[in-house]
Amino acid sequence: MCGIIGYVGYRNTVPVLITGLERLEYRGYDSAGIACVDHQKDGLILIKEKGKLGVLKEKLGDFAIEAHIGIGHTRWATHGEPSRANAHPHVDASGKIALVHNGILENYAAVKSILQKKRVRFLSQTDTEVGVNLIGAYYRKTGKLFDAVKRAVQELHGYFAFVLFSKEDPETLIAYKRSNPLVIGLGQGENFVASDVTALIPYTRQVIYLEDEDLAVITAQKISVYSLKTKTWVKRHPTTVHWDVSQAQKQGFPHFMLKEMYEQPEVLKNILAKRTPGSGEIFFDTLDKKFQKRLREIERVSMISCGTAYHAGLVGAIALEQYTRLPCRTQVSSEFRYGDPILNTKDLVVLITQSGETADTLAALREAKAKGAATLAVVNVVGSTIAREADAVIYTHAGPEIGVASTKAYIAQLATLLLLAFYMAKIRKTISPADLKELLREFKKMPQHCARVLKDIKKFESCAEKHYTRRNFLYLGRGCNYPTALEGALKLKEISYAHAHGYAAGEMKHGPIALIDHEQPVICIAPESKTYDKMISNVQEILARDGIVIAIGTDGQKDLKKMADDFFAIPRVPEILSAILTVIPLQFLAYKIAVLNGRDVDQPRNLAKSVTVE
Ligand code: AGP
Ligand code: GLU
Repeated sequence: MCGIIGYVGYRNTVPVLITGLERLEYRGYDSAGIACVDHQKDGLILIKEKGKLGVLKEKLGDFAIEAHIGIGHTRWATHGEPSRANAHPHVDASGKIALVHNGILENYAAVKSILQKKRVRFLSQTDTEVGVNLIGAYYRKTGKLFDAVKRAVQELHGYFAFVLFSKEDPETLIAYKRSNPLVIGLGQGENFVASDVTALIPYTRQVIYLEDEDLAVITAQKISVYSLKTKTWVKRHPTTVHWDVSQAQKQGFPHFMLKEMYEQPEVLKNILAKRTPGSGEIFFDTLDKKFQKRLREIERVSMISCGTAYHAGLVGAIALEQYTRLPCRTQVSSEFRYGDPILNTKDLVVLITQSGETADTLAALREAKAKGAATLAVVNVVGSTIAREADAVIYTHAGPEIGVASTKAYIAQLATLLLLAFYMAKIRKTISPADLKELLREFKKMPQHCARVLKDIKKFESCAEKHYTRRNFLYLGRGCNYPTALEGALKLKEISYAHAHGYAAGEMKHGPIALIDHEQPVICIAPESKTYDKMISNVQEILARDGIVIAIGTDGQKDLKKMADDFFAIPRVPEILSAILTVIPLQFLAYKIAVLNGRDVDQPRNLAKSVTVE
């Protein structure tokens, strides 16, 4: 987590840093700060504040700074509470080196006590300050910042990225990456570095994704990269970013989350246009012949991911097992990674992640690779670490997702995983061409269906108004809509802070039924399906105990409509596709309840968009 940015060049650095931080704020927002070297006075300026970027911006209004090198940070605390002292940048004891950091220095306590014995005084509780002081200690010995960083990072354990400079050389930034993302933006007479490309797109489309163990020396004119892996200076080739700047702006919507929800039909349309060019065809441009052969030969599949992406994995696994008859398990990355999973070359491990940077998922990928499994990343952010490290990648093409609560990226994951399941069934010959053709014909209607659901969604507003003060919600579903129950509950809890629990409807009688009384809203996801009658029995069980039923069903389900306090209908679609639609009213319900409670929808407390710590 944390967003970091650095700039060196002809512009005044402060507005560049702030624009970058605005775009990175989704990565963390408990404090923010900048450091730069004043052009006139040659002094190191350090301004940081607790709270969101707005607090820092206000503070900056008191200063007139003209600087051409600087670094900025927006924090998601791991070590030390959110406070001004713990905010980044951190400066070493000599007051010369300023540094911003993303990640964790795992051996910070041991290094700190060595430095303390050498009389280094610490002003914060962060691991970061230990890092900058270790660099500072070596810098004092040699006077060479590059050598000092090179030596220090080799002694620091954990996964992290640094950007730093010394006020004694206010023309050079140094950046280091180990696991956590860093991307360099190339300009004319200026260069940039940031945690992700969204911070760079207002200025440049030409970027270099640093690789692990890269140490970059960045001046306004030149980028040099030294690889600590190969112990040589290396050439990293620039790539062009195609994201549209406007995609990372609200465009009149009050929140990114709402805007991103409304982008969902377009996202589906793009995916279908890319993946299903002809009838009965599914096409993944990034899967080469060799990987396709591997997909034909594998005997087991694991879907590994976190949070919302985990829910997408659950749906993907149901589809994959159903259509390919391959055993397919789903697990959260953090459990998979430490569970010593049994894997061999006949396993396919699918890593699903919006950001492509989630630390647990990255660790799971590395575990799977080490055990010889074929690894396939299903990723939104192009060029991200997981996308680059997996044996193969399929991009979900949802465009930048800024709201911390994932919406369009989820829909894109669902659509991509379903298409992957159908594709594998096709190449393994477990689906007939006629069935596939029919499924894809239905699939192609999904953007329209999705748009209709969004058109109807306002009808659900009164449901949110009725219930927004409640503190407990239960979500029930079966089959591919059990993950929808989990996702609906996750959406509500992360942005409204109400307690919400997703459960397999058949499991209600084994415990949660004790919760049901006249004050308990139960969101029942019951579109047409092979378990519809079972869902209706569950609804009856809730009503018999006076519970409040909020139902998501299909057009024409008069029985369910009658039973429910609130009813939202999706269009009639094959069961396996229904999860793409049923989640939309739940996203909206969570959104509305959060707004009515005055919550910060796009930046809910304690969360961050990209979770790069374990
Ligand atoms: C989604 O609303 C969450 N904020 C979160 O669960 C997220 O899905 C999770 O952190 C995984 O992120 P990733 O897709 O970038 O790996
Ligand atoms: N460990 C650093 C801190 O707590 C950086 C945290 C992060 O990257 O999330 O300030």
